[in-house]
Amino acid sequence: MRKIKVCLDEVTCQIKLPRWIALDSFISEGQRVIFCGPSGSGKTVLATTLLGKLSLHLEKPLIYLVDPKGIDFRFCESCKNYYPVDNAVQGIEAFFRLFEARLRNQSPCTQPAILFTDEISSLILSLPKKEAEELKNKMARLLNLSRALNISIITAMQRPSAELFANGARDNYNIRFLMGNMANNKESVAMIANEYKDIIEPCPTGIGYLITDNGIKKIRSVMPRDTEKLHDVIREAVNREPQGGAEQ
Ligand SMILES: Nc1ncnc2c1ncn2[C@@H]1O[C@H](COP(=O)(O)OP(=O)(O)O)[C@@H](O)[C@H]1O
Ligand SMILES: [Mg+2]
Repeated sequence: MRKIKVCLDEVTCQIKLPRWIALDSFISEGQRVIFCGPSGSGKTVLATTLLGKLSLHLEKPLIYLVDPKGIDFRFCESCKNYYPVDNAVQGIEAFFRLFEARLRNQSPCTQPAILFTDEISSLILSLPKKEAEELKNKMARLLNLSRALNISIITAMQRPSAELFANGARDNYNIRFLMGNMANNKESVAMIANEYKDIIEPCPTGIGYLITDNGIKKIRSVMPRDTEKLHDVIREAVNREPQGGAEQ
């Protein structure tokens, strides 16, 4: 049974036989997911749905939630691994230590660990050059090396420009969501989905494209039916202790 049902296949919605698209690849190994699209296109809503499904269906997952804007994830306030606003850099550093401990075989990889960042571009661009480079290098190492360590990286950002990624790390995203009117910005499409630039059309809020190794699909994100329950399951994962200790 497919479990991690994230969004609907838009073609099936059009013929009134809506079908879910599942991302069960998360169950067997870490994934790299990016949500792109202009402000208001539905990135945060869809990413929150994904985090909810992962919280519910993976085996006791651990989520680090890095939220420089500090608005959409306030429901995680008081959770151990919630890093809003001024704590955002600290959150990426803490997750990086967990990754290094796994890489060096100092802690087990049994627990699925997820780093979610929502709109870290302005954070990166606001840091002094040296600190920005350090942060980008850490993200690049995570994106390049953590897949086999049961670590997933989930990123939501409006424009995934090359200057935000070190060492071509952007190419590691194997699951790409392009939401809303992104097609109006050819440059943005070329950054993340150049091979499909002739197919992608502007979409309304909540509609977009999903690109995986299996190709491209038009998708529809669905507003959560039970926001309280969604927030509860995410809070549990964001409040979980890392197994085997991350902060050596
Ligand atoms: N699937 C959807 N269906 C209907 N409305 C949506 C959907 N996704 C988002 N929205 C609306 O659009 C607003 C902006 O969504 P959000 O996810 O915050 O966008 P972004 O993170 O891209 O700026 C939400 O507050 C919600 O009202
Ligand atoms: Mg958002």
